[in-house]
Amino acid sequence: MQKYDLFNGKVNNLLHGADYNPDQWLHRPDILEKDIELMKKANCNVMSLGIFSWSTLEPEEGQFQFEWLDQIINNLYQNGINVILATPSGARPDWLAAKYPEVLRVNADRSKNLFGERHNHCYTSPVYREKIKIINRKLAERYGNHPAVIMWHVSNEYGGDCHCELCQQDFRKWLQNKYGSLENLNRSWWSSFWSHTYTDWQNIESPAPQGMQSVHGLALDWKRFSSDQTIEFYKNEIEPLREISPEIPITTNFMYKYIGLNYWKFAQEVDVISWDSYPSWHSDYETDINRAVDSAFMHDMFRSLKDGKPFLLMESTPSKTNWQSVAKLKRPGMHKLSSLQAIAHGSDSVQYFQWRKSRGGVEKFHGSVVDHVGNENTRVFKDVSELGAELQKITSITGTSVKAEVAVVFDQENRWAINEASGPRQEKKDYLKTCLSHYKNFWQQGISVDIINQEKDFSKYKLVIAPMLYLLKEDTAARLKKFVKNGGTVVSTYWTGIVNENDLCFLGGFPGPLRDLFAIWSEELDALYDQDSNQIVIKDNSELKTGQEYEAKTFCDLIQLEGAEVLAEYKSDFYAGRPALTVNDYGKGKAYYIASRNEEQFLKDFYYSLVSKLNLSKTIVSQLPEGVTAQKRSDKNYDYIFLMNFSQDEKKVDLTEELMEFVSGNVIKDSIILEKYEVKILKK
Ligand code: GLA
Ligand code: GLA
Repeated sequence: MQKYDLFNGKVNNLLHGADYNPDQWLHRPDILEKDIELMKKANCNVMSLGIFSWSTLEPEEGQFQFEWLDQIINNLYQNGINVILATPSGARPDWLAAKYPEVLRVNADRSKNLFGERHNHCYTSPVYREKIKIINRKLAERYGNHPAVIMWHVSNEYGGDCHCELCQQDFRKWLQNKYGSLENLNRSWWSSFWSHTYTDWQNIESPAPQGMQSVHGLALDWKRFSSDQTIEFYKNEIEPLREISPEIPITTNFMYKYIGLNYWKFAQEVDVISWDSYPSWHSDYETDINRAVDSAFMHDMFRSLKDGKPFLLMESTPSKTNWQSVAKLKRPGMHKLSSLQAIAHGSDSVQYFQWRKSRGGVEKFHGSVVDHVGNENTRVFKDVSELGAELQKITSITGTSVKAEVAVVFDQENRWAINEASGPRQEKKDYLKTCLSHYKNFWQQGISVDIINQEKDFSKYKLVIAPMLYLLKEDTAARLKKFVKNGGTVVSTYWTGIVNENDLCFLGGFPGPLRDLFAIWSEELDALYDQDSNQIVIKDNSELKTGQEYEAKTFCDLIQLEGAEVLAEYKSDFYAGRPALTVNDYGKGKAYYIASRNEEQFLKDFYYSLVSKLNLSKTIVSQLPEGVTAQKRSDKNYDYIFLMNFSQDEKKVDLTEELMEFVSGNVIKDSIILEKYEVKILKK
């Protein structure tokens, strides 16, 4: 497999480092000196600098102070530590907000924000765009050719929207560009409903709690616009960086489960994907195994955004996360396990928020490598430095990637539309959770999976799983059919093919343009109360165990057959005996339709059967014990296998071939024991 080079030849090892905020400590040269000593002890080779430094870099309008940053960067470089240099747009100086109030955000309820917090800026404001471009240019001119600087970290966790008049004007232009005429817009938005027909572009306003909330096409377009506008803002930010330092790759750190941006679109504009991961390990509402599944899904998604190119774990906590409802400490072993989990799924770095704990401010209790005590004699520091040492030993993994035969479609626009929909249940629509419940079965079997949106290429997979694809684009339907016709297998569920990309229901029967692919017609969707359930019973001609029953809850789709074969049927209620699971031969492939939301065991059995039927390749051939997964990165010569135990118990993994322990070189036969939270890296 192809090996990637994220840094244009400048780096060929895994990165290990943290967000470093020396601007908070300029009055303490002793601490800055100590930092360097500790960074070396922690086996760090990179620091992200300047993320929130605007007020230190430009204390007065047009008065720039770079000398402190010169010193920090030079000092890091002399000590063998590279720099990921940020642009500071994530938070602004007070003078900027005071002199140019237009830069501050307006909320959906049209209230205007005051100076404060971060990410509190309008993405449209010409003044904000101009000011950030000026300082970005200066940063690029001064540091764009510095040998320490390996990457631009543009802004920080872009997010949120702004409803000011400048944004409204741009939104109207965006709509004009998309629809051309008001007639077309009104038809696409079905705006004659409740007399919402627009007669003037100027009358269109973004959704507001005291205004428009019921035109779903408008709501979707506002989300699309806000995402596009953020990307436009980012493109304005990077202009001087590209011009002055074209060799330095650009990233911006994405967020866990963030719903506000279309990351698939954003991904096309960045060189390297990076993201910030803060799972709530050891919580009382989720097992560590399910948490690991969720985290793995996100890593796989961020890797898939750029079709397998390694990503960076830009932030994670070395111990606790102060903003979580309970900031629990990572239990022994979890730091190494969760960090190497990122590497296993395609990250080329483990980085932290943050290097040193702030003395004041809202994040003073957030985990960091160096605690308020200020030395290396802490459990966390030892964990970090041991991990750093381990990363140095597995450096040949850098640039390798993951090849998946399976893709789960998790589509952001679909997610927006599902959340907007009123009915068939207001709660527990659970799109992401449903995608995770399918994904988990591959994780548990040690099978690599890509997480893609509906616009990605399906042709490279053997199996595409598209649960709850409520919003279905015409083009997606055509591509899915082509995929199956050519021999692919697709699995979908209830609530698929309901609306088009403007959130207009398909006429002529659901699942809309996929009706012939599944050869069924979804006549009605029953929503069940939480305490209610039905059962599905496996029929005797099927691939599953005849007579086996599974509980169905929340959603039961009442479908009619149009050529599909029935694999299971409902057991009770007025729809007893009607199909609950079907398969249709379509061209050279097959299309499965799961009509109800079934208990976990159903998906487990269903996918065990499908995996063997499709002969999908597993990282480890034998069955993995519960809570243990095996993930793999490869290059031309080797597979690097990560065996990870997220359970609380010791587990034994049987091997059917000899493997080598990567670091020690020891050959392992027959089986391998993993202690609680243990991870082992093997080479093949
Ligand atoms: C009310 C309204 C109708 C419709 C129904 C829906 O009765 O008068 O226009 O919205 O609710 O339940
Ligand atoms: C985010 C931000 C960081 C910090 C951490 C704390 O990831 O990017 O600046 O606030 O959260 O968890």
